[in-house]
Amino acid sequence: MRVLIAGASGQLAQAIRRTWQDHDLVVPEETVLDLSRREAISTVVAETRPQVVLNCAAFTQVDRCESEAEQAQLINATAVGWLAEACEAQNALLIQISTDYVFDGTGTRPYREDDPTSPVSVYGRTKLEGERQAARCSRHLIARTSWLYDAWGKNFLNTMVNAAGQGRSLRVVDDQRGAPTTCRALARQLKVAAEEGWQGLVHTTCQGETTWHGFAKAIFEAKGMAVDLSPCATADYPTPATRPAYSVLDGSRRAILGCDLMPGWHDALLEVIRADWK
Ligand SMILES: NC(=O)c1ccc[n+]([C@@H]2O[C@H](COP(=O)([O-])OP(=O)(O)OC[C@H]3O[C@@H](n4cnc5c(N)ncnc54)[C@H](OP(=O)(O)O)[C@@H]3O)[C@@H](O)[C@H]2O)c1
Repeated sequence: MRVLIAGASGQLAQAIRRTWQDHDLVVPEETVLDLSRREAISTVVAETRPQVVLNCAAFTQVDRCESEAEQAQLINATAVGWLAEACEAQNALLIQISTDYVFDGTGTRPYREDDPTSPVSVYGRTKLEGERQAARCSRHLIARTSWLYDAWGKNFLNTMVNAAGQGRSLRVVDDQRGAPTTCRALARQLKVAAEEGWQGLVHTTCQGETTWHGFAKAIFEAKGMAVDLSPCATADYPTPATRPAYSVLDGSRRAILGCDLMPGWHDALLEVIRADWK
């Protein structure tokens, strides 16, 4: 399959490039496939003639989205509509990556795909609008994921390891629950999803759940680092954006659609820590 990837330098895009190597990947620089420019999108998609367009680009800085709502709307929502139009013209499958932050976090069991959404941040609201825009393309797959990280990129794992490496004591919130998900596990699942022709909305996170504090503890244990780590509450560290307190996603639809490849979050962490794939 010819696959066009938007958001080339992001952490998920890097995992896709490593995992989907047996497909014909077209990965333009972000200055070429610039999602803020409608014409750039239509030109690149028309010239590339892809079977699949995988949108890994987004305005992902959740706190900055609060003060830069217009830019968040443009990249996370409006541009997805332009991608959907361009894909429709080529009869391509649009794969849009979305987020657990479309939920408000008041749930008490893992959220299913058909549970009502109610985002509590600009990021969540614009990503939800992005889902609606993606669904304008007849052939679309919207894959919601959460707490993405890997050995590369700006993410919680690297932030924790760097902070601990400086000998700092760390306090990490212990009252937000979710599922840390590795980019490589998501990339493998998306590859199978594209090959099997999944469509619609699907939750694609690693299995199980923890808190940010539980995740940090597991990281330091796996790396054999002795760190002065203690739990704290979200209220102790106010941030511009509100985050859902509980954003675990139910993944049972994956097995209905086809091959469910998502590992447990802890096994996925160990794969990242132990594997040479950096
Ligand atoms: N990270 C998470 O925890 C998480 C959780 C749930 C869902 N997701 C979703 O998963 C997807 C991948 O996220 P990620 O973690 O890989 O994010 P990432 O590392 O921040 O990558 C996003 C990429 O999009 C690029 N981008 C921003 N504006 C652009 C534009 N106008 N044109 C083209 N590219 C542009 C960014 O470039 P610059 O860096 O130069 O701005 C960046 O390289 C996103 O849809 C995100 O919303 C992420």
